Amino acid sequence: MTVTSGAPQTRALTTEELRADLTLEQLRQLVGLVEYDDSSDPFPVTGMDAVGFVVGNATQAAAWYQLAFGMDLVAYRGPETGTRDSKSYVLRSGSARFVLSGGVTPDSPLLDHHRRHGDGVVDLALEVPDVDRCVDHARASGATVLEEPHDVSDEHGTVRVAAIATYGETRHTLVDRSAYSGPYLPGYVAAQSTITRPEGHPRRLFQAVDHCVGNVELGRMDEWVDFYRRVLGFTNMAEFIGDDIATDYSALMSKVVASGNHRVKFPLNEPAVARKKSQIDEYLEFYAGPGCQHIALATGDILTTVDGMRAQGVEFLETPDSYYDDPELRARIGEVRVPIEELKRRRILVDRDEDGYLLQIFTKPVGDRPTVFYELIERHGSLGFGKGNFKALFEAIEREQEARGNL
Ligand SMILES: [Fe+2]
Repeated sequence: MTVTSGAPQTRALTTEELRADLTLEQLRQLVGLVEYDDSSDPFPVTGMDAVGFVVGNATQAAAWYQLAFGMDLVAYRGPETGTRDSKSYVLRSGSARFVLSGGVTPDSPLLDHHRRHGDGVVDLALEVPDVDRCVDHARASGATVLEEPHDVSDEHGTVRVAAIATYGETRHTLVDRSAYSGPYLPGYVAAQSTITRPEGHPRRLFQAVDHCVGNVELGRMDEWVDFYRRVLGFTNMAEFIGDDIATDYSALMSKVVASGNHRVKFPLNEPAVARKKSQIDEYLEFYAGPGCQHIALATGDILTTVDGMRAQGVEFLETPDSYYDDPELRARIGEVRVPIEELKRRRILVDRDEDGYLLQIFTKPVGDRPTVFYELIERHGSLGFGKGNFKALFEAIEREQEARGNL
């Protein structure tokens, strides 16, 4: 839902962004919004609605995301609220919403999913202004409709939802919540965090989802790029092939598709043939197929975010001192808002392009399998993804792969 109907979407905030007290200017900087008029878009997308996960223990994962990621618990459903076979916890930070679900009864399909894939992302839900129009267009464009458009209602109003399939066992639920005021969806009840934040802890550690990356099989990337262009009307934002993203040992290819206003950005990776096993191959093996590799979270103060997460036990990839001491890097990045020593101390990476610069850092995989991880990103004008850091990043990932015996 946009607040000013008829205006280009970038000039209006979404419901979730308003709820999060974000301003348009903040958001423009946080996720790199661009001007866009959606009046002739066959599949207009307002923004990310939620990231849905299946995890092995939703009860404990919900506590970890509250503690380590500083998220707020806002809604819940489970056996106590009439959902017998599963539990789902809804967490928020700014306009970012995560839904963590786990199986309760032994025959829950979520347990089968978890047995096969481990902890992972099952749903990249999108907020759209017109669910039926999107589904009509998706079907006509050859997409698989998993759930036909339908209304779900409770005392807070009505939500229109549908779902289409994307790579692997991942889906895009399409949600129009413009006629709904409840805490999440019908079937959920409001819930409140029971966790006490440490003294002086910032109100939030991140503000929005910046991008969600999908890993697909060798030779399938262009097919999925085409899917997002054809079905969702996304545009190509960037592509990284060949030397851009190869180390001495392993390689991958990546293309980025984005919604018109860039609120939703989906990079897609596939492994490339190289001397050793690519990090994408490792993911595909351990996730047992294509899936979401990482979620980038936008913050306005990455130093505080990293300090807060590290203090709660989140582990980040190590970057060697040589990265920071390299005179070429120092010349390339020029002035950034903090002394480079502050970045070095926290192992935060920096990249600059023609539009500005960005600061970024990557966690280690957060579950038992070497699959899903997070990125934190602080943008200052750059609309990119840190291309200048790919080599350093991939070498750091390879060191981890090697330690796991998977290189
Ligand atoms: Fe990323």
